[in-house]
Amino acid sequence: MSFARILGTGGYLPEKVLTNADLEKMVDTSDEWIRTRTGIEERHIAADGETACDLAEHAARRAIEAANLQTSDIDLIIVATTTPDRVFPSTACLLQKRLDIHGCAAFDVQAVCTGFVYALGIAEKFIKTDSCRNALVVGTETLSRVVDWTDRDTCVLFGDGAGAVVLGVDEKVGIRSTHLHADGQYDDLLTVPVGISQGFDLVKEGKAFVQMRGNEVFRMAVNTLGRICDETLAANNLEKTDIDWLIPHQANIRIISAMARKLGMSMERVVVTVQTHGNTSAASIPLALDCAVRDGRIKRGETLLMEGFGGGFTWGSVLLDY
Ligand code: COA
Repeated sequence: MSFARILGTGGYLPEKVLTNADLEKMVDTSDEWIRTRTGIEERHIAADGETACDLAEHAARRAIEAANLQTSDIDLIIVATTTPDRVFPSTACLLQKRLDIHGCAAFDVQAVCTGFVYALGIAEKFIKTDSCRNALVVGTETLSRVVDWTDRDTCVLFGDGAGAVVLGVDEKVGIRSTHLHADGQYDDLLTVPVGISQGFDLVKEGKAFVQMRGNEVFRMAVNTLGRICDETLAANNLEKTDIDWLIPHQANIRIISAMARKLGMSMERVVVTVQTHGNTSAASIPLALDCAVRDGRIKRGETLLMEGFGGGFTWGSVLLDY
């Protein structure tokens, strides 16, 4: 039987850093409010002309190198993004061209902040069914392009970045289970309400930005993520104490802490990057993973729980042995 294991990770953050002090000059907010309500201290912002594919390419090359592979070894590319470079081709196809890879399947997944979890879940199925051997799975976002920088409710929350993993076939178990969910009835609580088919009237009116009912999203996120942790442990017959590391989506330190409490984990066993990355949507989980792998916290053989929640609503988890 074939399993999917993470062979290598990579991450990339744009050079420009936007601090809370910078935001104080842009909107009616304070460093103290942002820190205490969200845990965020700074976030990275893509330079003019720097796209989701640019960020993805850096992260992807680092992940392929960490996996000790060549770009020519990759035979599936999945990119999770809410902020693609173009309507089409997909960002995955644009990335494929950058990496000089030809012929393998390449496509985007749109599940907002749960995008990377969805992409990993799909890649795992390709590997387990012997449809590919080395899948490149990327989460990349330029959320700064759809944020209203005059709206203090949302502009303090988001950042840009990309994270990637190479998932390879192995006889030893890597990914143990994936759990993907959605409920479209909450479309109005968190949305960018413009698109190709619906039209771009709001763009002309200068309103094509993230709209969020923060309080309601917060409550839904905490309850839903609590349930997905229970579902994941039950599916694997595991106790909370069997989890070595929690790698949550990085939206708000209060949501992350609530999940750590729910799992009875000390914050030392939770990978937290929200303070310096902000919410990078589909990039947040692979970026957090890459940070903790590269600084030596996460070691081979340890059991990781990844969980995410985002617009849609979408939510999901991945349990794996690293
Ligand atoms: N600076 C200062 N004050 C701000 C502010 C800011 N940047 N943003 C909002 N406020 C004010 C509000 O106007 C409100 O003022 P009022 O009481 O006078 O009306 C007050 O702070 C409290 O606002 P509230 O929305 O209740 O704060 P909160 O504790 O819920 O925190 C969020 C707001 C957005 C940080 C929080 O709701 C959240 O994180 N939600 C989920 C976000 C999320 O996960 N999104 C993505 C899912 S992937």
